[in-house]
Amino acid sequence: MSETLFLTPGVPKAARYAELHPQVAALTAGEPDRTANLANVAAALRQAFGFFWVGFYIVQGEELVLGPFQGPIACTRIRRGRGVCGTSWAEARTVLVPDVEAFPGHIACSAASQSEIVVPILKAGAVVAVLDVDSDQLNDFDEADQAGLEQLMQLASNWF
Ligand code: SME
Repeated sequence: MSETLFLTPGVPKAARYAELHPQVAALTAGEPDRTANLANVAAALRQAFGFFWVGFYIVQGEELVLGPFQGPIACTRIRRGRGVCGTSWAEARTVLVPDVEAFPGHIACSAASQSEIVVPILKAGAVVAVLDVDSDQLNDFDEADQAGLEQLMQLASNWF
């Protein structure tokens, strides 16, 4: 397929995730390289939603290591159970944080980040990576983001 996203202006978030998913599936179909696919997913999410920071941390031993992302420079390594990302990994679940100041142990890669959602990528029941999305607005993520991002991460599971 062509490397162009088709996004209908002004649609609700759930509809935007619905139109994004098949395009990401087509864009990554037949491409076995994980880095290439994760990089395009980060770029597609940034383009579709204008996220402040969106990217991946990949499990390596006892740490998460920064992977492909879009946005300002970020922390490179996060230990299991630390911060929002490390919590999502340790608990193998999506963590939605309306106000990062209120999340104990939040790791502030950027002082501008105010709310956050982290979605694990699961392979055979184990977390292999997480998707982290940060906003510079409070309370910027909801169930529509969780549902849309979790569906995309089911697709990403194929690249591990
Ligand atoms: N805030 C994250 C760290 C990663 S950066 O936001 C990109 C956390 O608490 O795990």
